Amino acid sequence: MRTPLIAGNWKMNKTASEAAAFARELIQRKLNSPAIEIVIAPPFTAIDSVRHALGAKSPIGLAGQNLHWEDRGAYTGEVSAPMLKDLGCRYVILGHSERRALFGERDDVIQKKLAAAFRHGLKPILCVGESLGEREAGHTTEIIAGQLKGSLAGFTAAQLAMLTIAYEPVWAIGTGKAASPEQAISVHQTIRQFLLREWSTALAQGTRILYGGSVTPQNASSFLASDEIDGALVGGACLPTESFASIADLAQKRTGH
Ligand code: PGA
Repeated sequence: MRTPLIAGNWKMNKTASEAAAFARELIQRKLNSPAIEIVIAPPFTAIDSVRHALGAKSPIGLAGQNLHWEDRGAYTGEVSAPMLKDLGCRYVILGHSERRALFGERDDVIQKKLAAAFRHGLKPILCVGESLGEREAGHTTEIIAGQLKGSLAGFTAAQLAMLTIAYEPVWAIGTGKAASPEQAISVHQTIRQFLLREWSTALAQGTRILYGGSVTPQNASSFLASDEIDGALVGGACLPTESFASIADLAQKRTGH
């Protein structure tokens, strides 16, 4: 019922020309199963070159890694939702833990960014996740609920139908220490219960929840095997074509295609 999504978060990696070369390699892998969605999030400066290298008919979608909540104006260094739309982006990653930790993004700011994405028909991938200290103190559920409450406040179920959530425990990002599938499943269930309680059964059942944090071709199947996990948000392992394509292949196989 929920189409699996494999998303690659490039972070601050690859120049525009390196990105175009990556896109040309990815095309060779013929990842065009309608059973899954594949999305890549290059840095802003590389989105256009990736789009041209992929070509107009590519099934691979593009995402921004962030956006500003206003459409235009005196916000030096920022990029808006209409700018991303105009470059062919269908998705935008919001609330990534690096944005939260390094750039001070709070839930109220993320809420405004979500509103901009909804306004312009960009599908947000909202990242939530607890730190190691929060997990060890037994606060995971309340941290995740707090992040969801703070950033999703005031949106209608119709708006949230565009939303994908990525559970990314901060301690698993870029550390090589992925969560166990059981840990991920348990938080995914918490997120679904929250959506059910605050909105509706339809929203809880229809929202894709991805796992992210040290996903690799070696461990991806263990996450994708669960019906609770609707795909992956991949950082480090999305940078080499081969490993990103392998993860997408595994997701495709899980669907039986
Ligand atoms: P990682 O990053 O796969 O390198 O852990 C995931 C992310 O930050 O989205």
